[in-house]
Amino acid sequence: MNARNSFRPGEIWPDNHGVHINAHGGGILFHDGIYFWFGEHKIEGKAGNFAHVGVHVYSSRDLYNWRDEGIALTVSDDPKSEIVRGCILERPKVIFNPRSNKFVMWFHLEPKDAGYNGSFSGVAMAGNITGPFQFVRAFRPNAGVWPINVPPEAKYPLSVEELARLEKLDLAGGPRPWYPKQLLFRRDFTGGQMARDMTLFVDDDGRAYQIYASEGNGTLHISLLSDDFLSPAGRFIRVLPGRFNEAPAMLKWRGKYFLFTSDCTGWAPNPARLLAADSVFGEWEELGNPCLGAGEEISNTFNSQPTFILPVQGKRDAFIFMADRWNPQNAIDGRYVWLPIEFQHGTPVIQWRAEWNLSYFDHK
Ligand code: GAL
Repeated sequence: MNARNSFRPGEIWPDNHGVHINAHGGGILFHDGIYFWFGEHKIEGKAGNFAHVGVHVYSSRDLYNWRDEGIALTVSDDPKSEIVRGCILERPKVIFNPRSNKFVMWFHLEPKDAGYNGSFSGVAMAGNITGPFQFVRAFRPNAGVWPINVPPEAKYPLSVEELARLEKLDLAGGPRPWYPKQLLFRRDFTGGQMARDMTLFVDDDGRAYQIYASEGNGTLHISLLSDDFLSPAGRFIRVLPGRFNEAPAMLKWRGKYFLFTSDCTGWAPNPARLLAADSVFGEWEELGNPCLGAGEEISNTFNSQPTFILPVQGKRDAFIFMADRWNPQNAIDGRYVWLPIEFQHGTPVIQWRAEWNLSYFDHK
C-alpha cells in the first residue's frame, strides 16, 4: 500500500492493513520517538455505541501512517467485572508516569445497561505502552473533597430538604432553562463527583490533571492527579458552572492554557467553545467559538466534536485539533477530523482544510 503523506479530515483513514482506524474519542501519547493513538474500538451498527472489544491502540512515526498494535485494554467476559462487555467505555486517554515507569489510562465508564447515570472514571495500568492494560478500578472522583474555588459557606453537604427538591428535577440530557448551580457538587460530596466526557493533561512541571464533565454535564471539573497518576490528589476546581461544556481538550501555548470544549447535544455536533486561563486552576474565561468559516462549519465544528489536542513533536507552535465525526447508527464508521491549530492574535483558531500536511506548520 502506498504511504500516505497528508491528512484528509472526515475521510476513511486506513491503517497498515487497509482497515479504517478504530480509535474513536481518542488521544495520543508520544513516547520514545513514536506516537501512540488510543481510542474506543467500535463495532458495526448501534451496538457499536457500547464497548464490545475495548481500547484500540495504533502507532506511527509520521502521524499519517498508522500501524495496528491491537487492543490495549480488553473488556471482560466476567459479568461481575466493572468493564464487562457491553458497558460504556469512552474517551480513553493514556499518559506515562516517570516515577513508576507505568502507562496509566483513564476513561469514562458506565456500568452495563444503566445509561449514563453511573458517571464513573475508570483507571487501568500497563508496563508496556501497547498493553495489555490491567483494569485498576472505577469510581467517582473527589469523594469527600470540596472544590478549591467555592466559598466556605457553600462547603456543606445538601440538607434533606434540598435533596428532596433536587430529586424532583429532571437533570438528564443537556442544558435546562434552570440549573441548580450550587447543589450538585454538594450532593455528590460524599459519594464522589459525576465524571463523564474526559481528558488528561500533563503540564510542563510533570503534574497531570483529569478534566471531566461533572454535575450532570453542567460543570467541568479540573482535578490534579496523585504523583502515581492513579487517583485524584484531592485538589480540584469547578469551571463555568451551568455552562454545559463537554468533550474537553487542553493545550498549553506560551504559558497560557486553552481548553476546547463542545456544548452538550449527544452524538450530534454543535458549535465548539474555547476557554482560556493563565493557570490550570483558573480563572477560566470563555472566549467563544474557535472555528473560522461560514454557516455549518462554525455551527457544527466542521461536523465534529473535540477529543484531544496533539502537540506535534519537533515543530514550534504546532498543535493538531483532533475531533470525532460520530456515526451513532453505524458507530464503526465514525470519522476523524484533524485540523491544524492556528494562532491569531494570541488565540488558537481552526479552519476547514480538506487535505493538509505537517508542512503547514513550517510556513507560519
Ligand atoms: C456525547 C459525548 C460522547 C458520548 C455521547 C453519548 O455528548 O461527547 O462521548 O458520551 O454523548 O450520547
